[in-house]
Amino acid sequence: MNVILASDHGGTHLRKEVARLLEEMDVNVTDSGCDCEGSVDYSDYSLPAAERVANGEFDKGIFICGTGIGMSISANKVKGIRAALVHDVFTAKVTREHNDSNILCMGERVIGTGLALEIVKTWFFTEFEGGRHARRVQKIADYENK
Ligand code: RB5
Repeated sequence: MNVILASDHGGTHLRKEVARLLEEMDVNVTDSGCDCEGSVDYSDYSLPAAERVANGEFDKGIFICGTGIGMSISANKVKGIRAALVHDVFTAKVTREHNDSNILCMGERVIGTGLALEIVKTWFFTEFEGGRHARRVQKIADYENK
C-alpha cells in the first residue's frame, strides 16, 4: 500500500503526525509537502498529489488543510478521485464501505490530533463493500467519462 500525503500551511502539523503514524504502521508513505513557513495555495499541493492517486502511482492519499474543504473540493476535480472530507470515525468507516473513497481530507483547525489519527486508522483499514455501492460509484465514473 502506497500513500501520498499533501497539505497547505494550515495542515502541516497534522500531516507530520499522520506521516509518523503511517510509518509506525509500516505503510509506504510519500510526503509531498508543503515544506512551508508562510501561506501557500492548497490547490498547488492537492491537484498534483491527486493526479498521482488517479494515475495509480499511489493507492490512497491523505490531504489536510485548515478546514479540509479546499483540499477536498480541489482533489475532487481530478478524474477518478473520490475525496471524502471526514471529521468523525463513523463517516471515516462508511466512506470507505460505501464510496470507496481514495483520498481522505481533514481540517487541522477542526479536530484534534488524537481524533484525526483514529480517523486515519479507521479509514485505512476499512474495505469497500462493493455490491450496490459499486453500481453507485460506477455511475460517477460514467459521468466523468461522458
Ligand atoms: C488557509 O488559510 C485555509 O484557507 C486553508 O487551509 C483551507 O482551510 C481552505 O479550505
